[in-house]
Order: sequence, then C-alpha cells, then structure tokens
Amino acid sequence: MTDSSHPHYHQLAALLLASCSLLAGCVGSSGTSLDDEGASASSYDWDIPASIPLPVEPDDNPMTSAKFELGRYLFYDTRLSANGDIACASCHKQELAFSDGNQFPSGTYGDMHPRNAMSLGNTGWFATFNWARPDVTTLEEQIRGPLFNTSPIPEHGITDDNIELIESEVRADSTYQVLLIAAYPDEDANSQWNFDDHLIPALASFVRGLTSFDSPFDQYLLGDSDALSASAKRGLSLFASERLECTHCHLDDFTLTDNHMNRTWNYPTSNFHNTGSVLVYEEPNRGVYEVTGNSSHFGQFRTMSLRNIALTAPYSHDGSHATLADIIDTYSQGGKQGDYSVDGDLSPGFTLTDDEKTDLLAFLCSLTDTTFISNPDYGNPWPDEDGNPIGVTENPLADASVNPQCQLD
Ligand code: HEC
Ligand code: HEC
Repeated sequence: MTDSSHPHYHQLAALLLASCSLLAGCVGSSGTSLDDEGASASSYDWDIPASIPLPVEPDDNPMTSAKFELGRYLFYDTRLSANGDIACASCHKQELAFSDGNQFPSGTYGDMHPRNAMSLGNTGWFATFNWARPDVTTLEEQIRGPLFNTSPIPEHGITDDNIELIESEVRADSTYQVLLIAAYPDEDANSQWNFDDHLIPALASFVRGLTSFDSPFDQYLLGDSDALSASAKRGLSLFASERLECTHCHLDDFTLTDNHMNRTWNYPTSNFHNTGSVLVYEEPNRGVYEVTGNSSHFGQFRTMSLRNIALTAPYSHDGSHATLADIIDTYSQGGKQGDYSVDGDLSPGFTLTDDEKTDLLAFLCSLTDTTFISNPDYGNPWPDEDGNPIGVTENPLADASVNPQCQLD
C-alpha cells in the first residue's frame, strides 16, 4: 500500500531537520543538485532502489562483479593471515550484519583489539572509516589496516616476513587463478598477483558492494506505509524530535549517520562527536584526539550508522553498552557525566516513559534488513565437505519479536 503523505528517501531528513541545506536533492527545494547521469551511471549492477544515488567508485578501482566475487573469496579466506586462522569474516560475520558479537575481537596472535568490530553495510556511502579516523577516507586504505597493522594489534599479521608466502599461496590456488583473470582481464595470466594491485582493490569492491536497503524502514520510505508498526512509527517521530535530537547526528537515511557522501554530492562530510558514551576516555580510546592531539577532539567518535543495529551488540567504540536500552539510557542522561566535554547542545538529555522507550526500540529494530544478512551473494563462497558453498548462517534474532535488544526488560 502506498501513501503519498509519508516520508521517502531524501525527504526524511528534510522533514526532520529545520534546514535541509546539508542534503543534496532535498525535496521541496527548487532545482535539486542531483546529477542523474553521474548518479545512476555504473557498469556494475548495484541492485538498490532507484531513488538512492550511487556511492562513489574510485577512478582507479571501478566496481565490477568479477572484482566483487574475487573479494568475496578473499574476505572468507583464513590463509590471508600469519597463522592461517583469521579471515575478515572472523570479525565481520554476515549473520551479525558483519559485526562479531564480542566486546573486543582478537587477531591472529590472540591480541585483543581495544575497539569493537564494526558492522559493514552501505560503507560505500561513508566519507571516513573506523571509529575515529578522519584521515582514513577510502575503503582501499582502510582495508590495509587489518591486513598489515601492528598497532593497536596485528589482526591478520601480514608483514614483510610472510607476505610473499601468502601471495604465492593465492597465486597457486586454482580457484583464485580463475577469479584473478576474470577480475583483471587486461593483465597477463602469469601476473605477479599481489595485495596492492589486485587483492586489496578486490576486497574493497566486495565491501563496497555490501548494500542494505531492504529493512522495514526502507520499505516504508519506498512507500509501504504498513512496513512499520504503529510503535515503530512513533519511535521514528521520537528519533527525529527536537527533544531527543538523534537526527542531528544520525541524519542521513542511507546510512543513519553524518559521515557520508555520494555521487550527487561533492562534499564528503564526516562529523565526530563526544557523546559522553563512557565515563572516562582513556588511551587508546580518546577518539579523534588520538590522531590529531588537538584537545578539542577529545572523546570525539564518528557517528555510527544505525543500520542493522539490533544485530550488532555490544555497542559503542569500546563495546561498553550491552544493549540498545543501555545506549538510550546514556543519551537520556545527556551522556555519562564524567570528565569530558560533551557536545551538550546536541546531546541535551531527555526523559522517556517506558512506552516511549519501547517505541524507540521498535524504530531501531525496524532497521534490521533480513535480506542483507541472508543474501547468498554476500555469503561464504568456499565449498564445504560436500562441495557446496558454505553460504550463510541463519540468525533467529533477525526477528525483532524474539530479539532481546528490541524489548525493554
Ligand atoms: C581481528 C578482527 C578484525 C579483522 C580480522 C578484520 N577487522 Fe575490520 N574492523 C575490526 C575493528 C575492531 C574495526 C574498527 C577499527 C578501529 O576503529 O580502530 C574494523 C573496521 C573495519 C572497517 C571500517 C568500517 C567503517 O564503518 O568504518 C572495514 C571496512 C573493515 N573493518 C573491513 C575489514 C576487512 C575487509 C577485513 C579483512 C581484510 C577486516 N576488516 C578484518 C575488526 C577486524
Ligand atoms: C551529537 C551527535 C549524536 C547524537 C545527538 C546522537 N548520536 Fe548516537 N552516536 C553518535 C556517536 C558519535 C556514536 C559513537 C559513540 C561512541 O562509540 O563513543 C553514536 C553511537 C550510537 C549507537 C551505537 C552504535 C554502535 O554501533 O555501537 C546508537 C544505538 C545510537 N548512537 C543511537 C542514538 C539515538 C537513539 C540517539 C537519540 C537519542 C542518538 N544516537 C543521538 C552521535 C550521536
């Protein structure tokens, strides 16, 4: 059932914000800045609603389905790690919207990362990556981190000592031989296939291609008024209200954050805020300050996307919130009242009744996209014992009515 009186993509934030100057294509403004050519031209089939402007594809790494497919095999391959035990998918599991369910993940040598593993979905629309890294602006660059970093921990633990061995294993694998030639058809079949020129661009293409636009919230924006329950609709109004202020930061309807960019919009924006999510911000979790040393950046983290949020517990940069209800409680206090400078105007604190909390949870849970977490194209392509793709693990918590994150206890 469609209903022309309810919000659609682009309109949502425009309705929610007093001003829509940040948004390209605000409906109601005269002459949108949408460049339809650029917005919809891609040789890759993005398979997303037509009203969504495409994400930026880097000039030196345009999307192709062959690179996406190669990237998918690599994403699920533990051979790309020092001990042969860690793949991207160890910390980014499809059934958890590509998060891992732990407070902190561990790398190939068992060291614990100081920050929570991030969910991946619609990252192609992000302007910066990681919890607090204004300097990491492309997926290609981000992906070098888990592969090669030694700080804060070695994740995959690939170094000068083992990289040649790992690359030669990939080159020797008959599955990869086919995938590499398909992904890089202009290159010689005997190319010295390597991380920089081949594997990283393919991993980035796979991650960029992980799109989530089929949640009840999306269906609602696309015109199905029945896609949201009455409670979730009330929750959406609360989310967007001046009283709660959520949409001042979680504002863009593609990503639910203010860290975003797209083809129609040539000024990537990434905003970082101190929301008082913890009482004390300690090294190495002092936010953007860790990178800049500028005291005004103390405790500032990137506004997180809320897509599939009911599947990605625990929450916050340090996984210190076990539930969505905990997060709501922290916001309602105006942040934990510790020794920090919170963005007070934007996180003013508020009081909610239990019914209102239930409504807000219902809205947050309407961002769960079951198509995304069960899409076989995103699943593990490697064969199981019977030769079938390992595929996708089901997650019963995709059903909000049984997911404890969605109920107030
Ligand atoms: C040991 C666990 C672990 C492994 C393995 C891992 N990641 Fe991550 N990933 C994380 C953590 C933790 C973060 C957040 C890092 C930070 O902010 O310091 C993250 C962040 C990301 C982000 C940024 C998302 C965003 O919203 O900014 C992307 C993209 C990503 N990982 C992709 C990958 C890929 C591709 C691989 C494989 C090459 C991989 N990760 C391997 C734990 C892991
Ligand atoms: C001032 C900007 C701002 C406002 C206002 C804001 N958020 Fe956030 N949100 C953030 C930032 C920044 C983070 C990451 C904070 C951290 O990890 O320390 C975040 C994280 C979250 C998370 C956890 C995400 C994750 O993956 O762990 C949830 C859930 C959330 N916000 C919901 C809300 C709700 C609901 C509201 C309204 C009551 C709201 N936010 C208001 C900026 C904001």
